[in-house]
Amino acid sequence: MTLVIAHRGASGYAPENTFASFEKALELNSDGIELDVHMTKDNRLVVIHDFTLKRTTGEKGRIKDFDYSDIKNLDAGSWFSDAYKHQQIPELIKVLEFLKTEDILINIEIKAGSRLYPYIEENLLEEISRISVKGKFLISSFDHHGIKRLKSLDPKIKTGVLSGSSMIDPCRYSREFVGADAYHPHYKTVDKDLIEESLKHHMPLNVYTVNRRRDAKKLADLNVNSIITNFPDKVMEALKGF
Ligand code: G3P
Ligand code: CA
Repeated sequence: MTLVIAHRGASGYAPENTFASFEKALELNSDGIELDVHMTKDNRLVVIHDFTLKRTTGEKGRIKDFDYSDIKNLDAGSWFSDAYKHQQIPELIKVLEFLKTEDILINIEIKAGSRLYPYIEENLLEEISRISVKGKFLISSFDHHGIKRLKSLDPKIKTGVLSGSSMIDPCRYSREFVGADAYHPHYKTVDKDLIEESLKHHMPLNVYTVNRRRDAKKLADLNVNSIITNFPDKVMEALKGF
């Protein structure tokens, strides 16, 4: 059965990576929540997609150049709709506390590894170890060095390799070179060859970002492990019968 993961929360309905979008994802009975993590100057893990504040808060500057106290009261919701003007950039630990009683997949995407954010992998593992959750963690990244590093620090942590384009033998690469547990392809790169390769290497495919019903149907037909979407309800509707 293909799982449905809410991308940046249910970000089609509420501002991405905020409590509002995570609440909406739960309300829609998503099987999981994907969220993005960066690190502040004072080493706090925060949930936001971009490296800069501009798009979602209107402020100038990079996350890495601010202490959390400087950015925590910024309005991270008005850009989406005035109704969300009280939404803020959450700390990861607060989101995990909020989700800890939910039996869901928590897919944390690290937007950059230790070359930009020194010791982010250690910080993340430490944060995860501080909290006991009912669901399961899956850590993914486009920074494959970061995933490899995370796995060397904790071989039990479940990880996924993100890719935006077609690769040669991506499942073998993810499993054997990175040591990851899943491959996260862009939906346009999923075809029969990739499915065959994933079966050969016993590699689950978690596909992003699928917002159209017909694409969701096609992927469920190919039996992918999960679909990451801004509209969990639409995708669930399309998957009925699979
Ligand atoms: O994790 C899947 C997807 O979120 C990766 O792309 O840019 O939306 O973080 P992006
Ligand atoms: Ca993401």
